[in-house]
Amino acid sequence: MQLNLSDRILKPDFQGEFTASILAAAASPDLISFAGGLPNPVSFPIPEMEAATKKVLEENGVTSLQYNATQGWPALRKWIAKRYETMGVYGVEADDIIVTNGSQQALAMFGHAFINAGDEIIVEDPTYLVALQSFHVFDPCVLTVTMNPDGIDCEELARTIAEHPKAKFAYLIPNFQNPTGLSYSQEVHDKVVEIIKNSNVMILEDNPYRELRFAGTATNSFGAELGEQCCMLGTFSKIVTPGMRIGWICVRNKELRAKLLGYKATADLHTSIFSQMVIAQYLADNDVDEHIAKTKVLYKAKSDLMVSCLRKYLPAGCELTPTEGGMFLWVTLPNNLSSVDLYRKALEKGVAICPGDPFYEYQRNVSSFRINYSNSTDEAIEKGIKILAEACEELINEQ
Ligand SMILES: Cc1ncc(COP(=O)(O)O)c(C=O)c1O
Repeated sequence: MQLNLSDRILKPDFQGEFTASILAAAASPDLISFAGGLPNPVSFPIPEMEAATKKVLEENGVTSLQYNATQGWPALRKWIAKRYETMGVYGVEADDIIVTNGSQQALAMFGHAFINAGDEIIVEDPTYLVALQSFHVFDPCVLTVTMNPDGIDCEELARTIAEHPKAKFAYLIPNFQNPTGLSYSQEVHDKVVEIIKNSNVMILEDNPYRELRFAGTATNSFGAELGEQCCMLGTFSKIVTPGMRIGWICVRNKELRAKLLGYKATADLHTSIFSQMVIAQYLADNDVDEHIAKTKVLYKAKSDLMVSCLRKYLPAGCELTPTEGGMFLWVTLPNNLSSVDLYRKALEKGVAICPGDPFYEYQRNVSSFRINYSNSTDEAIEKGIKILAEACEELINEQ
């Protein structure tokens, strides 16, 4: 039969091809994969989840297995709302939260709510590849603003907004950005607040890694100063478990919230109520901060090991962007060598990395690449970085 597919789905999907290959690499037992953004399974609270699951089924089995409301389980929304106080945002109510199928779903919902074909949106350059992929579905005109070591380039952001005052939103990842691992300094944070306050641009703040800080101090969420002008995405994926697919969006504008809820109902009726109730039970019966503290110790050790292996084995001229948390390191090859060429070479040798290209809207043959440290054993880090360094050496010698 001939498929009469929509133009939308037939559009080339540059980022999509990479996302598929990253997930495939992560699932392949024959590869050492530094490509994905996977939490370390050692950090999964399996006995605690088992106890929470048992309790939910025993005490609330019927509700947990029935359909439920689109907005999400009230006890969970209440917990999330209160958590915003740790990010300097007070007065968030359970009603402001919509529980989503991972924060990934919230990105798609936001794109659906804001973007008509040709509408301008602002993103960091580079930015999270699957966010680009989600927004592309709606055919936006993507305006990019350079990421500096201390956060988004404020002059460029101010200029972009002055030249494009109708831009719909700015998608920002202020902590341990994916892919660069960089965070906004307080100075950059304050400047962004001023620029956005004087504009009609909404901020979509994505913050999956904020709680994984093992050095330095975090800035508040932009929602602390910007109120309704900032929608905040969050997730349990990086701090508890990604497999339950529980994320959220905090939307303090009532009209927008109603529209997002209407759309979510058509997409999936609601996020798994069973997963929501189990996570809520887990949070009620356990100290999640203690759990996160242990995870951070683990990730700091992994990051330290990977950084020292990179410094030891990588050929001269490679540059490393240090990080104070999160899951990723960002490495730049010398002499404008292509990270896609490195990606292919390393894959042949059994190591997967994520080349820089899909994180950029426009730039190609990028020299930087992203590597993940959270999900590898120490042996795999040592072995994998040695192989990666060999591949770099070969690439440099072939030039
Ligand atoms: C910046 C960013 N946003 C959103 C997501 C999606 O996370 P999830 O859907 O698991 O909450 C990720 C996942 O890696 C991410 O890095």
